[in-house]
Amino acid sequence: MKPEMRRTVIAGNWKMNFTPKEAKKFIKEVAPLVAGKDNCDIVFCAPYVTIDAAMKAAKGTNIHIGAENVHFEDHGAFTGEVSARMLKEIGVEYVIVGHSERRQYFAETDTTVNLRTKAALAAGMKVILCLGEVKEQRLSGITDEVVGMQTKLDLAGISEEDLKNVIIAYEPVWAIGTGLTATPEQAEETCGVIRKVLAGMYGKKVAETVTIQYGGSMNDKNAAELLAKPNVDGGLIGGASLVAEKFAAIVNAAQ
Ligand code: 13P
Repeated sequence: MKPEMRRTVIAGNWKMNFTPKEAKKFIKEVAPLVAGKDNCDIVFCAPYVTIDAAMKAAKGTNIHIGAENVHFEDHGAFTGEVSARMLKEIGVEYVIVGHSERRQYFAETDTTVNLRTKAALAAGMKVILCLGEVKEQRLSGITDEVVGMQTKLDLAGISEEDLKNVIIAYEPVWAIGTGLTATPEQAEETCGVIRKVLAGMYGKKVAETVTIQYGGSMNDKNAAELLAKPNVDGGLIGGASLVAEKFAAIVNAAQ
């Protein structure tokens, strides 16, 4: 059982999948399967062009729609980028920031992750802040230092008030899209480390209120065991969020 003061959040990260039409079809399929499951918040983060169609399809359901990234400037000469103000205007509630694919392929750093997080929070959105170690870091035994440093840098200058709108997604990079899942013990241990670092920054009481998800090959088979861990407050799901029955099974596992 999770402490009552923090919410379980099951979020799908569609990555570069689903056109507007495909998203509409998918939401119609998944919505009845997750209807009334109110023990957790349910979110799908969609590619920019798909957001509007997904939101329309999700209207009147318990499904929330988010974006997968956001720029830190309000407007200006940043070709290809989308600002928090733009997302807010169309009603986007959640945004993923700092996903390892952004860090790996698009030169995202803790500094830009921090700026993007601040911009999204200032616009009144909830941030799903992703962090996690790469394989070499886990193998050399420095996971705790890596996630600790990321937590500190990514949240630098973010107030206790704003932290209420931050969800942390612990995503070990070696587990993403690889079929290799962290064991429930590894997930629990590292989510616990992140919570300890949060306690150092904001105090223990505040740290206990922060939702910390696990992400990395979470699926319908392993979700129940991972979500049963006291420091794992939900999941950020890639591949399995594209299959309605699998995603619904994960939501069920969180009930
Ligand atoms: P997979 O569930 O496909 O491993 O992806 C996890 C992820 O990156 C979610 O953000």
